[in-house]
Amino acid sequence: MKSMHFTREEKELAVTWAEDSSWAEQENYNADLVYMDCVKDILEHPIFQSMENYMQHGDTTCKHHCIKVSYMSYSICRRLGWDYKEVARAGLLHDLFLYDWHTHARETGEHFHGFTHPRTALNNAVKYFELTENEKDMILRHMWPLTPIPPRTRGGLVIVYSDKFCGLVETVARFKRWFLFSVGWKSTA
Ligand SMILES: [Fe+2]
Ligand SMILES: [Fe+2]
Repeated sequence: MKSMHFTREEKELAVTWAEDSSWAEQENYNADLVYMDCVKDILEHPIFQSMENYMQHGDTTCKHHCIKVSYMSYSICRRLGWDYKEVARAGLLHDLFLYDWHTHARETGEHFHGFTHPRTALNNAVKYFELTENEKDMILRHMWPLTPIPPRTRGGLVIVYSDKFCGLVETVARFKRWFLFSVGWKSTA
């Protein structure tokens, strides 16, 4: 079995990569042909592209957040010799809820986005894409342990981890930029 150990340098590299969305914005993932072979149809689909219109964490859009979660999950699974196609695809679709969650509660009176958006994302995803049962489960269970039932596959757990990792790093990075701007050490927030 391949190593599950990640060196300190690899972890630092992962934080640097996740806190800056330019890798996703510049579509650098195009260079990874194995990854593209798994996900090209989703990436090119207008419904996926429409996630560009919604912010997720900090100043990262839902689209770029999903690409990062997908690519990180794919990279981890590929390194471990696990199936990586399903995590790559489910990662792209895990937050396909298609609204701005920052204003959603005010506009609709629905206050439980954290609990309900996996089901909304899955309902949207099955309308536009053919999904395996594992992919459906990965999308539906990605908020575990906030939602009580864990994913049924190890790939699903990798998505849970990548989503929390990217979400936290994206949020902290935004705060860091705001702080450096506030104290005058950086010209833009
Ligand atoms: Fe989510
Ligand atoms: Fe997410």
